[in-house]
Amino acid sequence: MESQNPWLNISAEDYEGHMSAPNVMQLQMLSKIFEDVLNEFSPKSIAVLGCTTGNGFEHLIGRNIEQIVGVDISPEYICVCKERYAEKLPQLQLICGDLAAINFPLLTFDLIHAALIFEYVNVDELLNKISKWLKPDGVLSVVLQLPSENSSPVSETQFQSLKLLNPLIKLIDPEEFKKMAQSYGLEEIKNDKIKLTSGKSFSVTKYVGKGL
Ligand SMILES: C[S@@+](CC[C@H](N)C(=O)[O-])C[C@H]1O[C@@H](n2cnc3c(N)ncnc32)[C@H](O)[C@@H]1O
Repeated sequence: MESQNPWLNISAEDYEGHMSAPNVMQLQMLSKIFEDVLNEFSPKSIAVLGCTTGNGFEHLIGRNIEQIVGVDISPEYICVCKERYAEKLPQLQLICGDLAAINFPLLTFDLIHAALIFEYVNVDELLNKISKWLKPDGVLSVVLQLPSENSSPVSETQFQSLKLLNPLIKLIDPEEFKKMAQSYGLEEIKNDKIKLTSGKSFSVTKYVGKGL
């Protein structure tokens, strides 16, 4: 029997508690990154891959966005996201499922936001799909966690369930990622590095697609 994805055993409460803990502070960082991406690209159609409970979705409210799709494997996270945002974002479509099995029509999105999700999926397969889902000149924004000498990929907090991710998480070399993206016609247009006080660093990169 296929084993269950560890994310399904991490409650929304544990996830948010862990990610916003004083020694982690990634929830806050990711929300700001999302806000910046929305300000920079003003997309009309957007997909958020690994959308969790809707971290940063408050920045979508009041913008002129026709289509917003959030995808996550966790039914609980999707449920929380729906409770928080379904009314405020009538154009929001939430899909619960494994990205390995999900597909969208070709050339659908102006922006695909993929923050700390490539660490948990088949990178090559997802990049291939994203390159087809993006409209010509559409943007892929990617946040990758960089290796750190002084902390393990999953930080220690009081939330023990997060340890379930240890066997799953795979940090990706940004240069390798860039080459893979290029092989699917995604060209890097901007790259920033963010270092948190925890010592962890992240690369925030934007790629432009060329369509099919
Ligand atoms: C670290 S969180 C992403 C953080 C979020 N993007 C943000 O900006 O705050 C990773 C998310 O990806 C989801 N996830 C992991 N593997 C997945 C898969 N194969 N398909 C869909 N979602 C997945 C998890 O349930 C989790 O909500």
